[in-house]
Amino acid sequence: MFNQRIVYLCTSLLLIQGVNNTMAQGIPAFLVDIGPYKDFFLAKIADSRKFDIERKEKKHGLSDLLAPVTNDDYYIIKNDNAAKVELGKFLFYDKILSGNKNISCATCHHGLADTGDGLSLPVGEGGQGLGITRNTGKRRHKIHERVPRNAPPVFNLGAYEFAAMFYDGRVEVDPSFPSSCFTPAGDDLPQGLDGVLACQAMFPVTSPTEMAGQAGENRIADATANDNLPMVWHLLAKRLRRNNEYVQLFKAAYPEIRRKKDITFVHAANAIAAYEAVTFRADSSPFDQFIRGNRKALSKMAKKGMRIFYGKAECGTCHSGKFQTDQDFHAIAMPQIGPGKGHGATGHEDFGREAVTGDMGDRFKFRTPSLRNIALTAPYGHDGAYDTLEAMVRHHLDSIFSIKNYDQKQVSLPSRKDLDRIDFLVQNSPELVEQIANASELSEIQLSDNQFQNLIAFLHALTDPNSIDLRKTVPKKVPSRLRLHD
Ligand code: HEC
Ligand code: HEC
Repeated sequence: MFNQRIVYLCTSLLLIQGVNNTMAQGIPAFLVDIGPYKDFFLAKIADSRKFDIERKEKKHGLSDLLAPVTNDDYYIIKNDNAAKVELGKFLFYDKILSGNKNISCATCHHGLADTGDGLSLPVGEGGQGLGITRNTGKRRHKIHERVPRNAPPVFNLGAYEFAAMFYDGRVEVDPSFPSSCFTPAGDDLPQGLDGVLACQAMFPVTSPTEMAGQAGENRIADATANDNLPMVWHLLAKRLRRNNEYVQLFKAAYPEIRRKKDITFVHAANAIAAYEAVTFRADSSPFDQFIRGNRKALSKMAKKGMRIFYGKAECGTCHSGKFQTDQDFHAIAMPQIGPGKGHGATGHEDFGREAVTGDMGDRFKFRTPSLRNIALTAPYGHDGAYDTLEAMVRHHLDSIFSIKNYDQKQVSLPSRKDLDRIDFLVQNSPELVEQIANASELSEIQLSDNQFQNLIAFLHALTDPNSIDLRKTVPKKVPSRLRLHD
């Protein structure tokens, strides 16, 4: 993954030049502009010898297993962000950020649905209702297409190592851009964003299907249709400035905001990122307690399952590190459902990472998801093709058999004839299924029923008890006074 590549690259370059020399002259020039990442990179460099050993261990998925998650793993932490978090909470739940004022971030990442929406694929702008009861909308407001990928949970994303966002990593830390992020917006993305999580928060509002709406429906949607992202952000900031309650919240969160005019969408994105990072930090699972020294925190089954996870079942080769992800991209033959991302001859395939790198070798690769809170966040995979944790794990044990015998009935999608018609175009084509299957990096693994149950018990031990009931993270009303309960 890019961020780690930078670290490796920096580390090896500096080792060749002599770390001490470079460090003695102060901060290396290429690290000056990367804001919150600076300390992280510097620590890595200073610690390069140890890091090298860690890197070797990482191959085996065991490296960070012995190191507990700490505050130092996060670039956004609670202490210095209270006012921003408060503002971010309202923005996250307020439909004011959508073109037609009918959908918020939370519609797809709701506290009551463990920061997802419970659906295989989200119903974006135009739909009505929350979670699995959401419908596809009525008459001229009905949705035009399904959102092509599953709405992922947003736990722990304030940690440095989540340096690439989305299943294909198309928003990524990159110091060579003014914003410090490589994104589809290139140089249009403004400066001043607090990290990659804030960079990400700039984008859902610019997507016609997710939040902006269709051309002709509102000015924000028109700006999106013209690919004028700076105009989208400008119009949204103007909306927020017109609401006195928001103006007060922005002033409280940012000392540099003295007048309404000073409010920009960058401030909004930073606040949303702070809210997500602080509220959805989840590192108190039984597994965490075990790593921190409480040997009794894990049940016998979970302990056995842990050994299987990092041993026989080879899960730890990809689900490595503190958050059970190598932050890299792999092909595991996930069944492809939904409208796809416009790739391939049919236009209904999703090539995953290839669309970002242009490298055919990356076809059907998706980012290894973190497994924190995994028992809470069904459906699974980049398109939510598997509805249960058991089915998702069984898929890994024999991925080729699994994709070829995929049971289409398990999808969680509100039905509508024209949408349903294209949901399984790829799955119904043996030729396309074959291509996805052929790319799979997974080897076949045999587990006894007992071993399988233990493995599942370990995955449950990754659930932070504080994440089970997130009702208290949901605001009771939002400054716009728009409805919250759908
Ligand atoms: C219509 C549903 C929808 C809405 C509304 C929405 N998202 Fe998402 N979100 C998604 C989907 C789908 C993805 C994954 C897309 C992909 O990987 O290509 C995603 C990805 C993300 C990610 C990346 C997570 C990761 O691990 O890579 C974050 C963070 C996020 N959304 C936050 C937000 C914020 C903040 C807002 C509001 C400004 C928002 N989302 C609005 C559906 C939605
Ligand atoms: C070759 C790398 C690799 C190995 C080995 C691997 N996984 Fe995965 N895993 C992935 C990738 C990549 C995804 C996401 C695929 C997608 O979205 O299309 C994934 C998805 C998952 C998911 C769903 C996550 C979510 O949020 O939707 C679970 C659960 C999971 N893996 C568990 C396991 C278990 C348990 C094992 C061991 C039996 C394992 N994985 C082995 C790469 C791997």
